[in-house]
Amino acid sequence: MREWTKEEKYRVLKTKEEIAGLRERIVESDYRQTFHIQPTTGLLNDPNGFVWHDGLWHLFYQWCPWGAVHGLKYWYHTTSKNLVTWENKGVCIRPDTEYDNKGAYSGSAFIVPNKNGDIALFYTGNHREEDWTRISYTCTVILDKDGKTNKAEKPLFGPSPEFTEHQRDPKILYIKERNKYYIVIGAQTKNKKGTVIVYESDKLFEEWKFAGELKVPGFEDFGDMWECPSIENIGGKDVLIFCPQHLNLPRRGNAIHHNGYILGTMDWDNLVFIPDGSFHVLDFGYDSYAAECAANIQDSDKAVLVAWMGLPDSAYPTDEEDWSGCLTLPRELKIRNRRLIQKPLDCLVELREQEIEPTGELPRVCEMEIENPGGDLELKLFTKADGSGGLTIKYTDSDKMISVNRGGLDNQFNEEQGQIREHLIDFSLSHLRIYIDRSSVEIFVNNGDAVFTSRVFPTKEEIGFVLSNNATVKIWKLKPAVKDDFVV
Ligand code: FRU
Repeated sequence: MREWTKEEKYRVLKTKEEIAGLRERIVESDYRQTFHIQPTTGLLNDPNGFVWHDGLWHLFYQWCPWGAVHGLKYWYHTTSKNLVTWENKGVCIRPDTEYDNKGAYSGSAFIVPNKNGDIALFYTGNHREEDWTRISYTCTVILDKDGKTNKAEKPLFGPSPEFTEHQRDPKILYIKERNKYYIVIGAQTKNKKGTVIVYESDKLFEEWKFAGELKVPGFEDFGDMWECPSIENIGGKDVLIFCPQHLNLPRRGNAIHHNGYILGTMDWDNLVFIPDGSFHVLDFGYDSYAAECAANIQDSDKAVLVAWMGLPDSAYPTDEEDWSGCLTLPRELKIRNRRLIQKPLDCLVELREQEIEPTGELPRVCEMEIENPGGDLELKLFTKADGSGGLTIKYTDSDKMISVNRGGLDNQFNEEQGQIREHLIDFSLSHLRIYIDRSSVEIFVNNGDAVFTSRVFPTKEEIGFVLSNNATVKIWKLKPAVKDDFVV
């Protein structure tokens, strides 16, 4: 694997030409996606600033232009009218001030009330001193309706001295009943426990003050850092979503970074999130992190969620090609039986180009729908011509366990995180909907009961599938939907 010097990682991008050669190389990759947002060059990680506004969805991502490395981060902007087709708009937030000298880190968006269609972006200015000490600032940028940006000269606030240097990922919330703005931030206590800290103000851009640490009874010792926290209200229930780090969880192999949620009630008076149940993983696959719900969606019964199809401290085969990462498909979130259910959006049917005969050949880009009449099921995707190898999806009805095993694929990566992911589903397996792009697979179980999202890098020989019982399968080829053009 390539070693990067600090200078290379944190180099400032001055012109598009500096990455034109890189760009020419990476578009040749067999693993470029066709209906998922991916980096124009270099590395993509978290989704940021996801918001619906004036007929358009805005979605940004953490972007390092230079290669598959977590170096200097920019916010890269994409838009969509329908959450299916997306366009590249170019860089939106540049790390060009003292406050964000080593990166414009993750954050969220809010529609400025009573103004001319402005979107306010809240992000972490990742400042490093000469000696590499980190200082996180909560900063803002206004994106106006003509696409012009205006960065505030001063941050809203700096870090709280009561916590370690790990304080980041502001999620801006307006709580109507209190007529107040809140910002929740992922943090680490001085005894190295993950937590959330809360700021409040009556005004969007002024008078922010530290309100306190969020108490989550039962979760005082749950990983050493909570990244990308958010508190959503879906169908009248509060949901705390966050990414606890350095933690082992059952049925998650050796994975140590997770993205999940707790249902409960948020008591803003006392800053307590009262859990109603345990921590649930959002996505049971290998590669899903830093999920963000869209702001301003005007429907209190559901949320729209998108995540980074990747993990921190992980390496992927395209790192060698100098690019890495993509986002998941946006999903509809609802609450059912005290769980979040995640469905592919209805509008994704627009991607279908043509239904094909299920001969056992697997198109590189397709959707599969499987109806299971009952009983056990085994499906292997990306098998060799003789049916060997592949990614195995296995369901046993006696214990309602569904598992995914990518150990049979030729291209292995992150093996130390474990080859198998498992989940016990509430109802017998009746339905699978699977979206396959050139280097990813998203498996939706029973119309939202569970989803398994994973990067896969099939070789030219891994082109088949094998379905083992009398389940029925339908396959559609899909149209490209995310314009992969070179906009910087
Ligand atoms: C999560 C994260 C965030 C941070 C960003 C930097 O993946 O580490 O906490 O803001 O990525 O790119």
